Amino acid sequence: MSRKPVIGANWKSNPASKSTVDELVKAFNETSWDGSKVDVCVFPTCLHAGMARDGFKKEISVGLQNVSKTGAGAFTGEWTAEMMAELGYEWCLIGHSERRSKYGETDEDTAIKMEKAQAAGIKVMFCIGESLEEREKGVTDAVNERQLKAVVGKISNWDLVTIAYEPVWAIGTGKTATPEMAQETHKAVRATVAKLAGDAVAAKVRIQYGGSSSPDNCEALFAQPDIDGFLVGGAALKPTFTKMITCLAK
Ligand code: PGA
Repeated sequence: MSRKPVIGANWKSNPASKSTVDELVKAFNETSWDGSKVDVCVFPTCLHAGMARDGFKKEISVGLQNVSKTGAGAFTGEWTAEMMAELGYEWCLIGHSERRSKYGETDEDTAIKMEKAQAAGIKVMFCIGESLEEREKGVTDAVNERQLKAVVGKISNWDLVTIAYEPVWAIGTGKTATPEMAQETHKAVRATVAKLAGDAVAAKVRIQYGGSSSPDNCEALFAQPDIDGFLVGGAALKPTFTKMITCLAK
């Protein structure tokens, strides 16, 4: 089955200044690719999101890096999936390892967030992945399964969900999983989805690789049969990020 490639640019709490957002918007807009061949979404900070949404051409959607567990109301520091939908933010990230490890986001939290996103029709790049310690203990597949199991019951529309497999030890470290290592885990993730949600879902769900992916390694990683795109951090803060988009759109 052919799956449409998908790439996310996770800007995290970057860039440090507004002028850099303008520069990146300009640089990304200047590169051409066939929008029917790849889904592209940039995740700026909430403060930069409006500028980015208004500035990017139609081939680039803008998403937010998180979503609230609640509806509208007295919840300081939060924004709801419905607000995102109304304002044209098509995608959100849920379960990023930095949210899990630095802000205490639990599997249960990710499940509630998934439920909210599904109800509002917001697409989700759902992040999973093991720490170095977990990989060394040989429990990578079990960790991914646990993280997936937490949310599958909340997903009624799988067309709105992609899985971003991001080994924590590869995020921002410059250490990328080798294409073979990434493929092995992606294949196991797809088998887990088959077990939890059926073969049809497993065949169509897109699984992105994340963790020090870049224009230099994207071609070899993308050549793997179960790698359907990327979720990119550091390399998405450079104009050369568009090389990764055009690699996927070939
Ligand atoms: P990185 O980040 O590409 O800088 O490793 C990826 C991510 O955290 O999504």
